[in-house]
Amino acid sequence: MAFGVEVFEGKHFAGAVAEEIVACLSESTEKRPSILLSGGSTPADIYRQLVLPPHVSEVDWKSIDFFFGDERWVPHTDAQSNSKMALETMFAKLPSMPSVYSVDTSRGKPSEGASKYEAKIKEVMGDAPKFTLVLLGIGEDGHIASLFPGSPLLNETSKLVASCPAPQGGPDRVTVTPQVITDASRVLFLVKGNSKAEIIKRVLEGDDSIEEIPARIYKKVKGSVRFFLDSEAASRLENVKA
Ligand code: 6PG
Repeated sequence: MAFGVEVFEGKHFAGAVAEEIVACLSESTEKRPSILLSGGSTPADIYRQLVLPPHVSEVDWKSIDFFFGDERWVPHTDAQSNSKMALETMFAKLPSMPSVYSVDTSRGKPSEGASKYEAKIKEVMGDAPKFTLVLLGIGEDGHIASLFPGSPLLNETSKLVASCPAPQGGPDRVTVTPQVITDASRVLFLVKGNSKAEIIKRVLEGDDSIEEIPARIYKKVKGSVRFFLDSEAASRLENVKA
């Protein structure tokens, strides 16, 4: 596993990550590169940069398959929707809609939505999907996607997608399970802000289990792993110069 930690001043963070995403996608030799998008707030500015010059013309958008690492069980018009965030910051700004596969939250129960999403991933990428690029934010509790500390889904080995409650309350979630992340060719962790300094120190310099801090799943990723941090998130690290 290739591994790296990159630290950027806050104002350069989004641009640096956007450059890395473009590099990953343009270096891919796959006919149809696939990217698993992160939700939350951190990626918003990164997605906005991707659809601005110069990057907007550096990506062959129609050749890429976009999926979501997790989704909140709300309508796609809801402010909490990860699909809505990606549409507004990125896809709506493109000349034509690329291949975006969202979780259908409009009918049924979260568990049914999860099964349908798994079937869609398998239909597009085969039964053992190996994403070109997985983007992950990290919560202050160390969660990634909607894999929360202590979740039974951290030991899920047959399903690729499952549903779960959100521990802090709020809508249920649909999330990829660990193997989708660990089988990826490249995983980028995107973490910024002072509020993440403590958890990033535990992720990178601690010895917690994956059950305690799901983001430590990075050690099991078969492909390459890079952490993109801003200087605030990196401020507690001893082995990395912020
Ligand atoms: C979600 C995300 C989640 C997020 C982290 C960090 O749906 O909320 O997938 O895993 O990446 O909670 O969120 P922020 O970027 O908002 O800090």
